[in-house]
Amino acid sequence: MSEGKSVIQIGMIGFGNVGQGVYRLLEKNRALIEAKVGAQLRIKKIAVKDLTKQRDVTVPEGMLTANYDDLVSDPDIDVIVELMGGLEPARTYLLDAMKKGKHIVTANKAVLSVHWDEIIATARQNKVDIYFEAAVCGGIPVIQAINDGLAPNNIMSIYGIVNGTTNFILQKMTEEKKSFKEALQMAQKKGLAEADPTLDINGMDAAHKLAILASLAFSKRVKVEDIYVEGIDRITLQDIEFAREEFGRVVKLFAIAEVEGDELEVRVHPTLIPQEHLLAKVDGEYNGVLVTGDFVGTTMYYGLGAGNKPTASAVMSDLIYVCRSVSDNVAGEISNCWFLSDNPQIKRLRKIGEIKSRYYLKFSVLDQVGVLSAIARILGEHQISIASVIQKEQKKGDKVPVVIVTYEALEKNVQEALKKINGLPFVQEETLLIRMDRGE
Ligand code: NDP
Ligand code: HSE
Repeated sequence: MSEGKSVIQIGMIGFGNVGQGVYRLLEKNRALIEAKVGAQLRIKKIAVKDLTKQRDVTVPEGMLTANYDDLVSDPDIDVIVELMGGLEPARTYLLDAMKKGKHIVTANKAVLSVHWDEIIATARQNKVDIYFEAAVCGGIPVIQAINDGLAPNNIMSIYGIVNGTTNFILQKMTEEKKSFKEALQMAQKKGLAEADPTLDINGMDAAHKLAILASLAFSKRVKVEDIYVEGIDRITLQDIEFAREEFGRVVKLFAIAEVEGDELEVRVHPTLIPQEHLLAKVDGEYNGVLVTGDFVGTTMYYGLGAGNKPTASAVMSDLIYVCRSVSDNVAGEISNCWFLSDNPQIKRLRKIGEIKSRYYLKFSVLDQVGVLSAIARILGEHQISIASVIQKEQKKGDKVPVVIVTYEALEKNVQEALKKINGLPFVQEETLLIRMDRGE
């Protein structure tokens, strides 16, 4: 075996929230990090979009460049750390870098989950390392846990709060009575949200993360389009308060992957969970994930899921792995992704209509005689049994919210019943459905 390296050169793409966090972390903990790697780490170049932008972190003259090629074509650079986000040009840059023999660390869950097959295949063909701990749950080492710590288990389920922005928004709405818009602005100011925050709100960021987690955990390629996704955009303070006061529950955006028999369910949606649930106390920008394996039982992972410091910690942990491998001259020799074996025990992915759950249904109706009985009749015709009903008195003539909680029912039946109920003349808005079943 030839000699490893004593100085490892790094090129970084992106110097925003996370990029600057990584730079600061390396500066502050350099002695510790280099002792762990057994070599010196040198950030040689950083590619950004706008060279004129004011930044919190000052770097040596000439380190910033607006030309990605300055990094990828530099034969001295061993590792590329991609912290720019998005699909393109990130995909092209990553593929190009790997073809030129660069090892990769990335926090980009969007590009990984969408272009997984191409990216992993390119890493293997070119014998380079690719690490992505920061792509899921910020500072929590959940990828390492699934890939390494739980490797001998058949994973049965994953229940997680994997998006810090939406969890932060829900908490600010609940505890400080902030409007949705104000809470989102606060999350953006804290550097939690994606560059396009609709990805957080509409559940797609959580779906990107679930695609990665489920693919690794179940040794089965789960694509983003396989996942049923709903965001938090229809959740109001009224629902949060009803849930807490009337049913002792809290609203969380859940990412769920669960095996039943030879089928796998993968979905992201708001879920009402009991206040005593382990994940109910996961608030603000914290994330929490429960992973259950057939031998290990249920394990829990908790920590800051977004923000520059925890995310920098995850990126740097990957960098330590990669740089240690480069220093020992074994980089690219061992794959850190198992799942390409395509688990034969999972025959199909279950569709959302096939799941069973309890449901919180909020009908917005005119306060008229016969409304409740008409709704109850349609639910009954679809084999949906009512567990409780709440109607708060309002001013005469106004629309009123009527909340019905059901016993467990088949989702397809619930969706068909709601289609009919939404067409009734006294229904003023599309009925809100929140699932109540899981993680109990
Ligand atoms: P920012 O928007 O703060 O930073 C993005 C950086 O990428 C900026 O420095 C920008 O340059 C640069 N950039 C954008 N386009 C290009 C381009 N074409 N060429 C070169 N540079 C480019 O994002 P974050 O730091 O918040 O996120 C980075 C990545 O980390 C994303 O994939 C995100 O999903 C992921 N992530 C973020 C977390 C967080 O808490 N923020 C947590 C976990 C993962 P310029 O500064 O000049 O505009
Ligand atoms: N926007 C993401 C979140 C960043 O809020 O969770 C961390 O991946």
